[in-house]
Amino acid sequence: MEKIIKFTEHFPSTRMRRNRKNSWARRLTSETHLSVDDLIWPTFVIEGSGEKKRIKSMPGVYCYSIDVLVDEIRIAYELGIPLVAIFPHIDEKLKTPDAREAVNPDNLLCRAVREVKQKLPEVGVMCDVALDPFSSDGHDGLYQNGQILNDETLPILCAQALVQAEAGCDIIGPSDMMDGRVGQIRASLDENKFLDVSIMAYSAKYASGFYGPFRDAVGSSKNLKGDKKTYQMDPTNSDEAIREAGMDIAEGADMVMIKPGLPYLDVIKLIKQCFCVPTFAYNVSGEYAMLKAASEVGWLDYNTVMLETLTSFKRAGADGILTYHAREAALILKKS
Ligand code: PBG
Repeated sequence: MEKIIKFTEHFPSTRMRRNRKNSWARRLTSETHLSVDDLIWPTFVIEGSGEKKRIKSMPGVYCYSIDVLVDEIRIAYELGIPLVAIFPHIDEKLKTPDAREAVNPDNLLCRAVREVKQKLPEVGVMCDVALDPFSSDGHDGLYQNGQILNDETLPILCAQALVQAEAGCDIIGPSDMMDGRVGQIRASLDENKFLDVSIMAYSAKYASGFYGPFRDAVGSSKNLKGDKKTYQMDPTNSDEAIREAGMDIAEGADMVMIKPGLPYLDVIKLIKQCFCVPTFAYNVSGEYAMLKAASEVGWLDYNTVMLETLTSFKRAGADGILTYHAREAALILKKS
């Protein structure tokens, strides 16, 4: 909604500090509210049992084996977090140029989803559709002679969405940025009677430097050939983000996402205002790492900057936030 700016306001009849003078006045005039209902917790899964492996570039974030993951997600669920995302770090030996492990119904991710949904049916589970955790080339689509093939990748993405839906995944998150994927994934979900499985499209996903720690977590950084600039968006553009979101919505996306979050708050606002659909921000691994690293050396107060960051997404218009801070934020929000 357009705000009416009153140019007639002036000092001393207007004193802006009156509404800030104490806690009750600030609470009363507060415009943006962050709640645990806004949080989506991204997690990483590895093979084994009883495993909890540190991710060096993401202090406080771990790769868990399926059994431990269930217990960790239970904590998130008990804190009131509505949705978790699960990303697999599979055995290097299973990564191939055709990323065939992505469509194996018994791959690590599908087993994790099945187990989580069986033990914790009340928690929402989301999975990425993209080939990078499964590809020996580290790309989201099929790689051939330095090119990422668009149309050849689409049937694999559809098959990947189907094995995830069969495993019990509630929300499919196409994060690959191939053209036309949302429409084709929606059609194959529908053909296979997965009418209730939602799609949260990574609509405006930028070719960003902030994904580095994530690529360490899923083990794709050392494999990655070149960069992702021929399919992920140019950070200088925002008209393009509107077109991407519009196409995804037309193709059947139930929700859209902007990624990364903090450097693209303007894009979140634009897309929310243009389309009025549920809009999410991905506060990505590099954004998380910045706050953690600076707070660990005592340069920032972690809880303050974390809540300030998450609130900024809501103020920009996001309905929710994928964030590695989710559990820590939920704990604080619950106490207050
Ligand atoms: C895979 C994918 C990426 C992220 C989520 N899904 C990395 C990439 O596109 O290279 C990044 C998330 C993060 O940095 O936290 N397509």
